[in-house]
Amino acid sequence: MLSQRMNDALNEQVKWELYSSYMYLSMSSYFLDKGLAGFANWMRIQAQEELFHAMRFFDFIGERGGRAVLHPVDAPPAEWKNPLDAFTHTLEHERLVTSRINDLVNVAIEEKDHATNIFLQWFVTEQVEEEDSVNDVLNKLRLINGEGQGMLMLDKDLATRVFTPPTTA
Ligand code: FEO
Repeated sequence: MLSQRMNDALNEQVKWELYSSYMYLSMSSYFLDKGLAGFANWMRIQAQEELFHAMRFFDFIGERGGRAVLHPVDAPPAEWKNPLDAFTHTLEHERLVTSRINDLVNVAIEEKDHATNIFLQWFVTEQVEEEDSVNDVLNKLRLINGEGQGMLMLDKDLATRVFTPPTTA
């Protein structure tokens, strides 16, 4: 059984994951509008992953006898200065999510909730991968420095990303 404090903190995270999905979908739309279909695809897959994260939290709350209460999700921005700005925002956002996951682990430890702590470890690892993959694109964007040929090559590369439900084992 989840404590009320743990339940509330997990409900808050469902909202954050849904907001993340919403924001990446907005970025996907932004990139489509700029004619960068590969970037748009990368963000669309990212949005799907975030929805998957939200559902993992939602399902876990139910499995532990808690109650998932859904909060309003803010509207994400619709515009960024350029692709570098969008990916810089993405990295900042993922770092924020990482710190939120760490806070959740702290609550689980304080509440002596070992099951939630174990559940959260998957997200601790996932955040390392998420930050790394965003950093990878960001580094390439810095190297390319807005040059047309490089942007087209990167766009082609990002078009190959596919959604595979992350392994939870
Ligand atoms: Fe669900 Fe990108 O963190």
